[in-house]
Amino acid sequence: MSLFLADSDSLTFLADELRRSAPEAAQTEIAGLGIAADVKLDGLWLAFARQTLPEAVEVSAASINAWADRIIDAVAGHFPDDQPWRLHLWPHYGEGRAGQNRCELILASVIERMKKKRRHLLRSFVDAESSGSRTSPHPNPFASRLRSPKGARESEFLPRPAGGERAGVRGGSDSSPAPFTPQTSLVQCILTSPEAGWLSTSLAPLPHAHRHLISSFPRGEVPLADDKSAPSRAFTKLVESEQRLGRRIERGQTCVDLGASPGSWSYVAIQRGAHVIAVDRSELREDLMRSPRLRFEAADAFKYQPSQTVDWLVCDVIAAPQRSIDLLLEWLRDKRMRNFVVTLKFKGHDEYPLLESLKRDAPPLCAEFHLTRLCANKNEVCAFGVV
Ligand SMILES: C[S@@+](CC[C@H](N)C(=O)[O-])C[C@H]1O[C@@H](n2cnc3c(N)ncnc32)[C@H](O)[C@@H]1O
Repeated sequence: MSLFLADSDSLTFLADELRRSAPEAAQTEIAGLGIAADVKLDGLWLAFARQTLPEAVEVSAASINAWADRIIDAVAGHFPDDQPWRLHLWPHYGEGRAGQNRCELILASVIERMKKKRRHLLRSFVDAESSGSRTSPHPNPFASRLRSPKGARESEFLPRPAGGERAGVRGGSDSSPAPFTPQTSLVQCILTSPEAGWLSTSLAPLPHAHRHLISSFPRGEVPLADDKSAPSRAFTKLVESEQRLGRRIERGQTCVDLGASPGSWSYVAIQRGAHVIAVDRSELREDLMRSPRLRFEAADAFKYQPSQTVDWLVCDVIAAPQRSIDLLLEWLRDKRMRNFVVTLKFKGHDEYPLLESLKRDAPPLCAEFHLTRLCANKNEVCAFGVV
């Protein structure tokens, strides 16, 4: 049984999506939290699932120490001693700080236990990460991140951007958990009350192999990026996609931005030192139009083709979702880009089943493919990945 988390306004869409993927699978809605369903994760893409807890079991624990024992029992003897593991632990009940406090005490108890008699587990324990979400009614308990323990692998932390990044778009690698490596194992524990909750244990390489379903961000929640100088808030979608992908537009890369005006996606790419070909019927903000790193093409996004393979296709064009899906598949089939972020915009909810063809046709053309309703999305879904 896996537990799929969703925003409360997405639960019915997630239920529909699960039914389309696995019509036979029994589903149980867990109020306000998500859907438990017995479905295979292989070949599964769920745009409306924020986070996946594989093999999730309901647990009860009468005390802080009992919770810590449950978590240690899930890890000891199951995870390889010499490989990194992470814990995502958060409360999903009540108002105020009571749940957060409880989780902090549980974490302290887990660490204390490992110090006393499971030092090998402590050495490979990478981080108890914070989601840092500002919008969640149940904020993550770890306001300040734990220092990673001695011996935690450097590879568990996102590489810093090459070259000096100018101040500006915040969010991105500095505040992101590292992407899972094939060696990373993961424990996820949700307290739905002080004495009950869900526990999920994912042995490596599962978190990495299913990284399009299992987010390295606790709860799958990515704090929104911040930059008052961007032409619009739309840049938060691009930054969140990069964060989820664990890879970002870099200095010296080439980026085609389809439907680029007023220019906040181009702004991000320019800030990172990339060269941008911005395609739109309308010009971008004046300062961007003057940038030596931007070339503006007053053209139809659906007809534009680059003369050679580009590092990034980013596309936020306003169009019927099927048109954007066809555009992405055409670019993928022709290998016109190495990485991509494409927004699919919906009017109402009837067209979500169109996503099924993309789930079928895009993954075989990609090294990595994600399809997610981002925290920054409204009635949109973002497709992003690596070709
Ligand atoms: C949501 S806005 C893009 C916002 C942009 N990503 C940003 O962050 O500033 C969508 C853009 O798509 C453009 N657009 C719509 N259809 C287009 C087409 N067929 N060809 C080129 N641009 C198009 C619109 O002019 C509009 O500027």
